[in-house]
Amino acid sequence: MNHSELLAWLRETDDDRLEILWGKADQARREHVGDAVHLRGLIEFSNYCARRCAYCGLHVDNQGVTRYRMSMDEVMVCVRLAHEFGYGTVVLQSGEDYGMTTDWMADLIRRIKSETPLAVTLSLGERSHEDLTAWREAGADRYLLRFETSNPDLYRKIHPDLGGRISDRISILNCLRELGYEVGSGVMIGIPGQTYDDLATDLLCFRDLELDMIGVGPYIPHPDTVLGRQVIDTESDQQPPRDERMVYKMVALTRIMCPWANIPSTTALATLNLVEGRELGLMRGANVVMPNLTPPEYRVFYEIYPSKACIRETAKDCHGCMGRRIESIGRRVGTGRGDSRRMKNTVFAQD
Ligand code: 5AD
Ligand code: FES
Repeated sequence: MNHSELLAWLRETDDDRLEILWGKADQARREHVGDAVHLRGLIEFSNYCARRCAYCGLHVDNQGVTRYRMSMDEVMVCVRLAHEFGYGTVVLQSGEDYGMTTDWMADLIRRIKSETPLAVTLSLGERSHEDLTAWREAGADRYLLRFETSNPDLYRKIHPDLGGRISDRISILNCLRELGYEVGSGVMIGIPGQTYDDLATDLLCFRDLELDMIGVGPYIPHPDTVLGRQVIDTESDQQPPRDERMVYKMVALTRIMCPWANIPSTTALATLNLVEGRELGLMRGANVVMPNLTPPEYRVFYEIYPSKACIRETAKDCHGCMGRRIESIGRRVGTGRGDSRRMKNTVFAQD
């Protein structure tokens, strides 16, 4: 699809026409990545952050956040749980936390790799080339870093630089690729000042960056952020809404543009529709979910946006919930690591 075709779908409001889009996306998903839904166990191990992203509740100036950093032993308890639950991957996520050192992280990665067969995905923000190299050498397999929007002016507005270093996530994504990581990125939908045109460009960027993993979710205003306090111009016919349907359109178009990618049905989407958001994401292009393994006493403090789904649940609750949701739509839980199929032009194996 080209830019104008993408734009037409993004602006489509006829529900019967949209059924065609859902159908195309679901078919592309089935043909390229199969019926397995891969489970990635999410461990939000630190909510310290040095940055001032205008949308995120964990930004450094937010005094209202109770900060925590889990010990290595606490993280390992979650990691073992992931293995027991049959997950193939753990995702280690934190704010951009420089109290978490290069060596500490490398030790943790080596420990996970020596004690379990799990794939390790990192989601730690804009770290230095040196850090990314050390962690890859320690055995990390994948890295997630959303570019959030392809509009350079909007990007700069919501990502203040840190210590004179210009925020350039695209160049970091290219480094990650060179270092041999599987690379993941994505965007938020409905950021104030974003346009339909920007979303179409986002989709073309996903394809051009040849991403292995692509996460898209609604922007959800957080009252303790610069952007959350901003009045949104709802009158503009250029501004896409941050509603459920807009997210499904982006999930579906992402699948069509990048048929081999691993695409999660995100927690932010589940937050918009607790009843069936996850399922509808999976039925309209997604093939991954990320059950939360963070201990309940910490997860309440990982509030990147308010009213986050799963905030009061335990790892076991989320595990059971995801399994039931996957089976309820006639899909199956994936086994194995669920590695990227992007480079493999083969019929999918039975995982
Ligand atoms: N609303 C929705 N998503 C958010 N993220 C951060 N803040 C918000 C928010 N207010 C997303 C960003 C980030 C990911 C970890 O969480 O896309 O990359
Ligand atoms: Fe966490 Fe459903 S996945 S409660």
